[in-house]
Amino acid sequence: MQDEAALYGARMVQPGLTGADAEENTLRPQRLEDYIGQDKVKQNLKVYLEAARRRGEPMDHILLYGPPGLGKTTLAGIIANEMGVQIRITSGPAIEKPGDLAALLTNLQEGDVLFIDEIHRLSRQVEEVLYPALEDFALDIMIGKGPSAQSIRINLPRFTLVGATTRAGQLTGPLRDRFGVLLKLELYAPEELARIIQRSAGILDQPITPEGAYELAKCSRGTPRVANRFLKRVRDFATVLGDGVIDGEVSRMALKRMDVDALGLDELDRSLLRAIIEMYGGGPVGLETLAAALGEEAITLEDLCEPYLMQMGFLTRTPRGRCATSLAYAHLGMRAPEQTRPVSPEEAGQQSLF
Ligand code: ADE
Repeated sequence: MQDEAALYGARMVQPGLTGADAEENTLRPQRLEDYIGQDKVKQNLKVYLEAARRRGEPMDHILLYGPPGLGKTTLAGIIANEMGVQIRITSGPAIEKPGDLAALLTNLQEGDVLFIDEIHRLSRQVEEVLYPALEDFALDIMIGKGPSAQSIRINLPRFTLVGATTRAGQLTGPLRDRFGVLLKLELYAPEELARIIQRSAGILDQPITPEGAYELAKCSRGTPRVANRFLKRVRDFATVLGDGVIDGEVSRMALKRMDVDALGLDELDRSLLRAIIEMYGGGPVGLETLAAALGEEAITLEDLCEPYLMQMGFLTRTPRGRCATSLAYAHLGMRAPEQTRPVSPEEAGQQSLF
């Protein structure tokens, strides 16, 4: 099994933490009240946590889903902190064999949070071991082989599984059914991202004006991870080329130098839209075809580019493939073709992400 990248300061086991991880972690809020945005998720989670605390029970198992970079790992850490327990962090692909999962589970303490990122990537054999662990807090282990094989049951401490996935649709039914709480994270509004940037700048001791923060927020594709990354790079520009303060002008200059346009699209987003328009007449074109044309993985386009392009109204997903909208043509300074046929409701409307 790979190292667990553990996250949280005080009560966490932390093998294999890199410098970048450590810096990202200093920006992560530790308490629900410091977590900005996702108001609906926060309000419900607060009730569930309080109820579990009052009953003196561990939280029910929680599934967090939504596009990458929205704070699923951060929320898992907050859940552990709010319950006053330890968190153990791992990911679906890191748990290769049932024995890896057994080792993790038997090392938990009563009430602990086990966070499994990319939980849709667990193997079937590992999932089979997970079911009784989730339902009965027990591990069924086979001892021996052939006719003398015996199954023994080991009791586990009661724990909370927090699973995270960018693709809830790929979870098997039996696994999904074992989560008592399903929370969907949405892309953030620019105002929320501006608050996150100002909070992070405060932690980094970096002077920033409200306009400077808002300029970055507008271009952060609805994603705190992108917002915090921009903040760190723009801080470099402010330090070397400016007077150390991030104001509107420094933000705009830095974003331009990083090839991020006024609506936050980067080179890959624009290449994707340009490919649909220039190579496939505006679509529809299949995701795999597009990925091959761009030399990218389909999953990269689907997880990183499409949620934001759809939110901006530049891209639609239809049963027959991806289409660029007239807004996309306008944004790229291209003329949209005349509409020659009526557009079906599915083609016109945006599809749900999950
Ligand atoms: N850093 C990353 N995500 C955050 C959030 N939602 N609130 C505050 N800080 C964050």
